[in-house]
Amino acid sequence: MKKLFVTGGAGFIGSAFVRLVLAEIPGCEVVNFDALTYAGNLDNLEGVDEGRHRFVRGDICDREAVLAALEEGTEAVVNFAAESHVDRSIASADEFLRTNILGTQVLLDAARSRSVRRFVQISTDEVMGSLPDDDDAYFTEASPFEPNSPYSASKAAAEHLCRAAHQTHGLDTVITRCGNNYGPRQFPEKFLPLIISNAMRGEPLPLYGDGRYTRDWIYVEDHCRAILMVLQKGRSGAAYNIGARNERRNLEVAEAVLGKLGKPLSLIRHVKDRPGHDRRYAIDPAKVESELGWRPRETWESGLEKTVRWYAENGVWVERTRSGAYRDYYERQYGAEKSLESEV
Ligand code: NAD
Ligand code: DAU
Repeated sequence: MKKLFVTGGAGFIGSAFVRLVLAEIPGCEVVNFDALTYAGNLDNLEGVDEGRHRFVRGDICDREAVLAALEEGTEAVVNFAAESHVDRSIASADEFLRTNILGTQVLLDAARSRSVRRFVQISTDEVMGSLPDDDDAYFTEASPFEPNSPYSASKAAAEHLCRAAHQTHGLDTVITRCGNNYGPRQFPEKFLPLIISNAMRGEPLPLYGDGRYTRDWIYVEDHCRAILMVLQKGRSGAAYNIGARNERRNLEVAEAVLGKLGKPLSLIRHVKDRPGHDRRYAIDPAKVESELGWRPRETWESGLEKTVRWYAENGVWVERTRSGAYRDYYERQYGAEKSLESEV
Protein backbone atom coordinates (compact mmCIF):
# COMPACT_ATOMS: atom_id res chain seq x y z
CA MET A 1 0.00 0.00 0.00
CA LYS A 2 1.45 3.34 -1.06
CA LYS A 3 -1.12 6.08 -0.58
CA LEU A 4 -4.18 6.40 1.67
CA PHE A 5 -6.73 9.18 2.06
CA VAL A 6 -7.92 9.18 5.66
CA THR A 7 -10.77 11.46 6.73
CA GLY A 8 -11.29 12.45 10.36
CA GLY A 9 -7.69 11.56 11.13
CA ALA A 10 -7.35 14.26 13.80
CA GLY A 11 -10.04 12.63 15.94
CA PHE A 12 -9.74 9.84 18.47
CA ILE A 13 -9.84 6.68 16.32
CA GLY A 14 -8.67 8.29 13.07
CA SER A 15 -5.46 9.57 14.68
CA ALA A 16 -4.76 6.14 16.17
CA PHE A 17 -5.25 4.63 12.71
CA VAL A 18 -2.89 7.16 11.08
CA ARG A 19 -0.24 6.33 13.70
CA LEU A 20 -0.69 2.61 13.14
CA VAL A 21 -0.44 2.83 9.34
CA LEU A 22 2.67 5.00 9.43
CA ALA A 23 4.30 2.66 11.94
CA GLU A 24 3.35 -0.64 10.30
CA ILE A 25 3.43 0.06 6.56
CA PRO A 26 6.81 1.51 5.62
CA GLY A 27 6.55 3.57 2.46
CA CYS A 28 2.84 4.29 2.83
CA GLU A 29 1.85 7.96 2.61
CA VAL A 30 -1.26 9.31 4.30
CA VAL A 31 -3.27 12.35 3.34
CA ASN A 32 -5.23 13.22 6.46
CA PHE A 33 -8.33 15.27 5.62
CA ASP A 34 -10.11 16.72 8.64
CA ALA A 35 -12.28 19.78 9.29
CA LEU A 36 -10.94 20.18 12.86
CA THR A 37 -14.34 20.45 14.49
CA TYR A 38 -14.46 20.62 18.30
CA ALA A 39 -13.48 16.92 18.28
CA GLY A 40 -10.51 17.24 15.94
CA ASN A 41 -7.19 18.04 17.55
CA LEU A 42 -3.81 18.38 15.89
CA ASP A 43 -2.19 17.51 19.21
CA ASN A 44 -3.46 13.98 18.53
CA LEU A 45 -0.95 13.76 15.67
CA GLU A 46 2.07 14.96 17.59
CA GLY A 47 5.16 12.93 16.71
CA VAL A 48 3.86 11.29 13.51
CA ASP A 49 6.31 10.98 10.61
CA GLU A 50 5.70 14.27 8.78
CA GLY A 51 7.57 13.00 5.72
CA ARG A 52 4.77 10.54 4.99
CA HIS A 53 1.84 12.41 6.51
CA ARG A 54 0.15 15.42 4.92
CA PHE A 55 -2.59 17.15 6.88
CA VAL A 56 -5.27 19.00 4.91
CA ARG A 57 -7.89 20.98 6.76
CA GLY A 58 -11.19 20.51 4.93
CA ASP A 59 -14.83 19.54 5.18
CA ILE A 60 -15.95 16.23 3.63
CA CYS A 61 -19.16 17.96 2.49
CA ASP A 62 -17.07 20.36 0.37
CA ARG A 63 -16.84 18.52 -2.96
CA GLU A 64 -14.19 20.79 -4.48
CA ALA A 65 -11.96 20.65 -1.42
CA VAL A 66 -12.20 16.86 -1.33
CA LEU A 67 -11.39 16.54 -5.05
CA ALA A 68 -8.48 18.94 -4.69
CA ALA A 69 -6.94 16.88 -1.89
CA LEU A 70 -7.72 13.42 -3.26
CA GLU A 71 -4.96 12.59 -5.73
CA GLU A 72 -5.09 10.07 -8.57
CA GLY A 73 -3.15 7.00 -7.49
CA THR A 74 -4.72 6.96 -4.02
CA GLU A 75 -5.37 3.34 -3.21
CA ALA A 76 -8.05 3.73 -0.57
CA VAL A 77 -10.27 6.20 1.22
CA VAL A 78 -10.83 5.36 4.88
CA ASN A 79 -13.73 7.44 6.21
CA PHE A 80 -13.61 8.15 9.93
CA ALA A 81 -14.94 11.72 9.64
CA ALA A 82 -18.23 12.04 11.47
CA GLU A 83 -20.17 13.72 14.19
CA SER A 84 -19.80 10.93 16.72
CA HIS A 85 -21.48 11.78 20.04
CA VAL A 86 -25.01 10.46 20.64
CA ASP A 87 -25.97 13.12 23.22
CA ARG A 88 -25.09 15.92 20.80
CA SER A 89 -27.26 14.31 18.12
CA ILE A 90 -30.19 14.32 20.55
CA ALA A 91 -29.68 18.04 21.22
CA SER A 92 -29.45 18.82 17.48
CA ALA A 93 -29.31 16.43 14.54
CA ASP A 94 -28.49 18.85 11.69
CA GLU A 95 -24.73 18.52 11.69
CA PHE A 96 -25.02 14.71 11.95
CA LEU A 97 -27.12 14.52 8.82
CA ARG A 98 -24.82 16.89 6.96
CA THR A 99 -21.47 15.32 7.79
CA ASN A 100 -22.41 11.68 8.29
CA ILE A 101 -24.76 11.33 5.33
CA LEU A 102 -24.06 14.05 2.77
CA GLY A 103 -20.33 14.00 3.51
CA THR A 104 -20.15 10.25 2.94
CA GLN A 105 -21.86 10.63 -0.45
CA VAL A 106 -19.39 13.34 -1.45
CA LEU A 107 -16.51 11.01 -0.57
CA LEU A 108 -18.04 8.09 -2.46
CA ASP A 109 -18.46 10.25 -5.57
CA ALA A 110 -14.92 11.61 -5.26
CA ALA A 111 -13.48 8.12 -4.82
CA ARG A 112 -15.15 7.03 -8.06
CA SER A 113 -14.02 10.02 -10.03
CA ARG A 114 -10.41 9.56 -8.85
CA SER A 115 -10.50 5.78 -9.54
CA VAL A 116 -9.72 4.94 -5.92
CA ARG A 117 -9.43 1.17 -5.57
CA ARG A 118 -11.21 0.71 -2.23
CA PHE A 119 -13.50 2.67 0.11
CA VAL A 120 -13.62 1.75 3.79
CA GLN A 121 -16.55 3.12 5.78
CA ILE A 122 -16.07 3.19 9.55
CA SER A 123 -19.50 2.46 10.93
CA THR A 124 -20.82 1.41 14.31
CA ASP A 125 -22.67 -1.38 16.07
CA GLU A 126 -25.31 1.22 17.00
CA VAL A 127 -26.89 0.90 13.54
CA MET A 128 -28.26 -2.43 14.82
CA GLY A 129 -30.07 -0.81 17.72
CA SER A 130 -30.27 -2.33 21.17
CA LEU A 131 -30.18 -5.87 22.57
CA PRO A 132 -32.17 -7.09 25.57
CA ASP A 133 -30.51 -7.22 28.95
CA ASP A 134 -29.22 -10.52 30.32
CA ASP A 135 -29.65 -12.34 27.06
CA ASP A 136 -27.52 -14.47 24.80
CA ALA A 137 -28.35 -12.33 21.76
CA TYR A 138 -25.47 -10.78 19.81
CA PHE A 139 -25.12 -8.43 16.85
CA THR A 140 -24.06 -10.34 13.75
CA GLU A 141 -23.57 -9.05 10.22
CA ALA A 142 -27.10 -10.34 9.50
CA SER A 143 -28.76 -8.34 12.29
CA PRO A 144 -31.39 -5.91 11.04
CA PHE A 145 -30.82 -2.16 11.15
CA GLU A 146 -32.76 -0.59 14.03
CA PRO A 147 -31.01 2.71 14.82
CA ASN A 148 -32.47 4.56 17.79
CA SER A 149 -30.69 7.92 17.88
CA PRO A 150 -30.18 10.58 15.22
CA TYR A 151 -26.46 9.67 15.34
CA SER A 152 -26.99 5.97 14.66
CA ALA A 153 -29.69 6.72 12.06
CA SER A 154 -27.22 8.94 10.20
CA LYS A 155 -24.53 6.23 10.35
CA ALA A 156 -27.05 3.66 9.06
CA ALA A 157 -27.90 5.99 6.16
CA ALA A 158 -24.20 6.31 5.36
CA GLU A 159 -23.89 2.52 5.22
CA HIS A 160 -26.78 2.36 2.78
CA LEU A 161 -25.07 4.92 0.55
CA CYS A 162 -21.90 2.78 0.54
CA ARG A 163 -23.95 -0.26 -0.40
CA ALA A 164 -25.65 1.70 -3.18
CA ALA A 165 -22.27 2.88 -4.55
CA HIS A 166 -21.12 -0.74 -4.58
CA GLN A 167 -24.25 -2.19 -6.16
CA THR A 168 -24.91 0.59 -8.65
CA HIS A 169 -21.49 1.87 -9.57
CA GLY A 170 -19.30 -1.12 -8.75
CA LEU A 171 -17.22 0.81 -6.22
CA ASP A 172 -15.20 -1.53 -4.01
CA THR A 173 -16.61 -0.70 -0.57
CA VAL A 174 -16.13 -2.42 2.78
CA ILE A 175 -17.76 -1.50 6.07
CA THR A 176 -16.61 -2.00 9.65
CA ARG A 177 -19.01 -1.91 12.62
CA CYS A 178 -17.34 -1.60 15.95
CA GLY A 179 -18.46 -1.16 19.55
CA ASN A 180 -17.24 1.31 22.16
CA ASN A 181 -13.61 2.22 21.71
CA TYR A 182 -11.41 3.35 24.56
CA GLY A 183 -7.80 4.44 24.81
CA PRO A 184 -5.61 7.55 24.63
CA ARG A 185 -6.82 10.83 23.08
CA GLN A 186 -10.58 10.27 23.29
CA PHE A 187 -12.51 13.51 23.68
CA PRO A 188 -13.83 13.67 27.27
CA GLU A 189 -17.48 14.03 26.30
CA LYS A 190 -17.49 10.22 25.89
CA PHE A 191 -18.18 8.13 28.98
CA LEU A 192 -14.79 6.60 29.73
CA PRO A 193 -12.52 9.66 29.30
CA LEU A 194 -15.17 11.77 31.02
CA ILE A 195 -15.24 9.62 34.14
CA ILE A 196 -11.44 9.20 34.16
CA SER A 197 -10.83 12.94 33.99
CA ASN A 198 -13.60 13.71 36.51
CA ALA A 199 -12.28 11.07 38.92
CA MET A 200 -8.74 12.43 38.63
CA ARG A 201 -10.09 15.83 39.75
CA GLY A 202 -12.25 14.34 42.50
CA GLU A 203 -15.43 15.42 40.65
CA PRO A 204 -18.67 13.35 40.44
CA LEU A 205 -19.04 10.63 37.80
CA PRO A 206 -22.45 11.02 36.08
CA LEU A 207 -24.17 7.69 35.33
CA TYR A 208 -27.28 7.85 33.20
CA GLY A 209 -30.30 6.13 34.75
CA ASP A 210 -29.65 2.94 36.69
CA GLY A 211 -26.10 2.62 35.30
CA ARG A 212 -26.79 -0.97 34.24
CA TYR A 213 -26.51 -0.27 30.51
CA THR A 214 -24.04 -2.56 28.77
CA ARG A 215 -21.40 -1.66 26.20
CA ASP A 216 -18.91 -3.89 24.39
CA TRP A 217 -15.51 -2.23 24.92
CA ILE A 218 -12.49 -2.49 22.61
CA TYR A 219 -9.05 -0.92 22.88
CA VAL A 220 -8.67 1.62 20.06
CA GLU A 221 -5.48 0.12 18.64
CA ASP A 222 -7.15 -3.30 18.36
CA HIS A 223 -9.99 -1.69 16.42
CA CYS A 224 -7.47 0.03 14.11
CA ARG A 225 -5.64 -3.26 13.45
CA ALA A 226 -8.94 -4.81 12.44
CA ILE A 227 -9.66 -1.88 10.08
CA LEU A 228 -6.23 -2.35 8.50
CA MET A 229 -6.95 -6.04 7.93
CA VAL A 230 -10.36 -5.27 6.44
CA LEU A 231 -8.73 -2.67 4.19
CA GLN A 232 -6.10 -5.16 3.01
CA LYS A 233 -8.05 -8.43 2.91
CA GLY A 234 -11.78 -7.76 3.42
CA ARG A 235 -14.27 -8.96 0.83
CA SER A 236 -15.60 -6.29 -1.51
CA GLY A 237 -19.14 -5.25 -0.56
CA ALA A 238 -18.95 -6.94 2.85
CA ALA A 239 -19.46 -5.59 6.36
CA TYR A 240 -17.44 -6.80 9.36
CA ASN A 241 -18.49 -6.55 12.98
CA ILE A 242 -15.51 -5.85 15.23
CA GLY A 243 -15.59 -6.58 18.94
CA ALA A 244 -13.33 -7.89 21.68
CA ARG A 245 -15.94 -9.98 23.53
CA ASN A 246 -15.80 -7.53 26.40
CA GLU A 247 -19.25 -6.58 27.68
CA ARG A 248 -19.33 -4.34 30.77
CA ARG A 249 -22.08 -2.48 32.54
CA ASN A 250 -21.44 1.25 32.95
CA LEU A 251 -21.52 0.92 36.72
CA GLU A 252 -18.83 -1.76 36.55
CA VAL A 253 -16.69 0.51 34.32
CA ALA A 254 -17.04 3.39 36.77
CA GLU A 255 -16.08 1.15 39.70
CA ALA A 256 -13.03 -0.13 37.81
CA VAL A 257 -11.84 3.42 37.04
CA LEU A 258 -12.31 4.57 40.64
CA GLY A 259 -10.45 1.48 41.83
CA LYS A 260 -7.49 2.17 39.53
CA LEU A 261 -7.29 5.80 40.65
CA GLY A 262 -7.79 4.99 44.33
CA LYS A 263 -10.92 7.19 44.52
CA PRO A 264 -14.10 6.55 46.56
CA LEU A 265 -17.24 4.94 45.08
CA SER A 266 -19.17 7.86 46.58
CA LEU A 267 -18.14 9.92 43.52
CA ILE A 268 -20.69 7.96 41.46
CA ARG A 269 -23.92 9.89 40.80
CA HIS A 270 -27.01 8.65 39.02
CA VAL A 271 -28.35 11.42 36.77
CA LYS A 272 -31.26 11.77 34.39
CA ASP A 273 -31.23 9.10 31.68
CA ARG A 274 -30.45 9.63 28.00
CA PRO A 275 -33.66 9.62 25.89
CA GLY A 276 -33.91 6.45 23.78
CA HIS A 277 -30.89 5.00 25.61
CA ASP A 278 -29.83 1.69 24.01
CA ARG A 279 -29.77 -0.95 26.74
CA ARG A 280 -27.09 -3.32 25.54
CA TYR A 281 -24.56 -3.71 22.73
CA ALA A 282 -22.81 -7.06 22.24
CA ILE A 283 -20.87 -7.98 19.13
CA ASP A 284 -20.28 -11.41 17.66
CA PRO A 285 -16.87 -10.97 15.97
CA ALA A 286 -16.75 -14.51 14.53
CA LYS A 287 -16.59 -13.30 10.93
CA VAL A 288 -13.61 -10.96 11.30
CA GLU A 289 -11.88 -13.61 13.40
CA SER A 290 -12.42 -16.54 11.04
CA GLU A 291 -12.15 -14.74 7.68
CA LEU A 292 -9.33 -12.36 8.45
CA GLY A 293 -7.65 -13.96 11.47
CA TRP A 294 -8.04 -10.83 13.59
CA ARG A 295 -7.76 -11.07 17.39
CA PRO A 296 -7.53 -8.26 19.97
CA ARG A 297 -4.15 -7.86 21.66
CA GLU A 298 -5.32 -6.05 24.77
CA THR A 299 -7.45 -7.45 27.55
CA TRP A 300 -9.89 -5.13 29.35
CA GLU A 301 -7.47 -5.01 32.30
CA SER A 302 -4.36 -4.16 30.23
CA GLY A 303 -6.24 -1.70 28.00
CA LEU A 304 -7.84 0.12 30.92
CA GLU A 305 -4.50 0.29 32.72
CA LYS A 306 -2.85 1.88 29.63
CA THR A 307 -5.76 4.28 29.17
CA VAL A 308 -5.90 5.52 32.76
CA ARG A 309 -2.10 5.94 32.75
CA TRP A 310 -2.24 7.95 29.51
CA TYR A 311 -4.78 10.40 30.96
CA ALA A 312 -2.79 10.67 34.19
CA GLU A 313 0.39 11.46 32.24
CA ASN A 314 -1.20 13.88 29.77
CA GLY A 315 -2.76 16.49 32.00
CA VAL A 316 -2.06 19.29 29.50
CA TRP A 317 -4.02 17.50 26.73
CA VAL A 318 -6.90 16.89 29.16
CA GLU A 319 -6.99 20.47 30.45
CA ARG A 320 -6.86 21.91 26.92
CA THR A 321 -9.74 19.77 25.69
CA ARG A 322 -11.79 20.50 28.81
CA SER A 323 -11.44 24.26 28.46
CA GLY A 324 -13.37 26.70 26.26
CA ALA A 325 -16.42 25.36 24.42
CA TYR A 326 -16.30 22.07 26.34
CA ARG A 327 -17.25 23.88 29.55
CA ASP A 328 -20.42 25.25 27.92
CA TYR A 329 -21.30 21.80 26.60
CA TYR A 330 -20.74 20.23 30.02
CA GLU A 331 -22.95 22.83 31.68
CA ARG A 332 -25.75 22.23 29.16
CA GLN A 333 -25.48 18.44 29.44
CA TYR A 334 -25.01 18.01 33.19
CA GLY A 335 -25.94 21.44 34.60
CA ALA A 336 -28.87 22.51 36.77
CA GLU A 337 -31.69 20.74 34.93
CA LYS A 338 -29.88 17.39 35.07
CA SER A 339 -28.58 17.93 38.56
CA LEU A 340 -27.27 15.01 40.56
CA GLU A 341 -30.10 12.86 41.83
CA SER A 342 -28.56 10.33 44.17
CA GLU A 343 -25.39 8.69 45.34
CA VAL A 344 -24.60 4.99 45.15
P1 NAD B 1 -14.23 11.86 16.94
O1 NAD B 1 -15.44 12.67 17.19
O2 NAD B 1 -13.17 11.75 17.98
O3 NAD B 1 -13.49 12.39 15.62
C1 NAD B 1 -14.19 12.75 14.47
C2 NAD B 1 -13.22 13.49 13.55
O4 NAD B 1 -13.91 13.84 12.34
C3 NAD B 1 -12.69 14.80 14.15
O5 NAD B 1 -11.31 14.90 13.94
C4 NAD B 1 -13.45 15.87 13.37
O6 NAD B 1 -12.72 17.08 13.25
C5 NAD B 1 -13.65 15.18 12.03
N1 NAD B 1 -14.81 15.72 11.30
C6 NAD B 1 -16.07 15.93 11.78
N2 NAD B 1 -16.83 16.48 10.82
C7 NAD B 1 -16.06 16.59 9.71
C8 NAD B 1 -16.29 17.07 8.38
N3 NAD B 1 -17.48 17.55 8.00
N4 NAD B 1 -15.27 17.03 7.49
C9 NAD B 1 -14.05 16.54 7.86
N5 NAD B 1 -13.78 16.11 9.10
C10 NAD B 1 -14.76 16.13 10.01
O7 NAD B 1 -14.77 10.43 16.52
P2 NAD B 1 -14.18 8.98 16.82
O8 NAD B 1 -14.68 8.51 18.12
O9 NAD B 1 -12.73 8.99 16.52
O10 NAD B 1 -14.97 8.16 15.70
C11 NAD B 1 -14.42 8.02 14.39
C12 NAD B 1 -15.38 7.22 13.53
O11 NAD B 1 -15.59 5.94 14.11
C13 NAD B 1 -16.77 7.84 13.39
O12 NAD B 1 -17.21 7.64 12.07
C14 NAD B 1 -17.63 7.07 14.38
O13 NAD B 1 -18.97 7.02 13.94
C15 NAD B 1 -16.98 5.71 14.30
N6 NAD B 1 -17.07 4.87 15.52
C16 NAD B 1 -16.71 5.36 16.73
C17 NAD B 1 -16.72 4.53 17.84
C18 NAD B 1 -16.29 5.03 19.21
O14 NAD B 1 -16.42 4.28 20.18
N7 NAD B 1 -15.78 6.23 19.36
C19 NAD B 1 -17.13 3.21 17.71
C20 NAD B 1 -17.53 2.72 16.46
C21 NAD B 1 -17.47 3.58 15.35
O1 DAU C 1 -21.00 1.52 20.17
C1 DAU C 1 -20.25 2.38 19.36
C2 DAU C 1 -20.55 3.81 19.71
O2 DAU C 1 -20.03 4.03 21.01
C3 DAU C 1 -19.98 4.81 18.70
O3 DAU C 1 -20.61 4.63 17.47
C4 DAU C 1 -20.18 6.24 19.18
O4 DAU C 1 -19.53 7.14 18.31
C5 DAU C 1 -19.60 6.38 20.57
O5 DAU C 1 -19.85 7.67 21.06
C6 DAU C 1 -20.19 5.32 21.50
O6 DAU C 1 -21.61 5.58 21.75
P1 DAU C 1 -22.22 5.42 23.24
O7 DAU C 1 -23.44 6.22 23.30
O8 DAU C 1 -22.26 4.01 23.65
O9 DAU C 1 -21.00 6.11 24.04
P2 DAU C 1 -20.96 7.14 25.27
O10 DAU C 1 -19.52 7.25 25.65
O11 DAU C 1 -21.69 8.39 24.97
O12 DAU C 1 -21.75 6.35 26.40
C7 DAU C 1 -21.36 5.06 26.83
C8 DAU C 1 -22.38 4.59 27.86
O13 DAU C 1 -22.24 5.40 29.03
C9 DAU C 1 -23.81 4.73 27.41
O14 DAU C 1 -24.58 3.69 27.99
C10 DAU C 1 -24.25 6.07 28.00
C11 DAU C 1 -23.47 6.09 29.29
N1 DAU C 1 -23.11 7.44 29.80
C12 DAU C 1 -22.52 8.32 28.93
C13 DAU C 1 -22.16 9.57 29.36
C14 DAU C 1 -21.51 10.56 28.40
C15 DAU C 1 -23.34 7.77 31.11
O15 DAU C 1 -23.87 6.94 31.90
N2 DAU C 1 -22.97 9.02 31.54
C16 DAU C 1 -22.39 9.94 30.72
O16 DAU C 1 -22.10 11.06 31.18
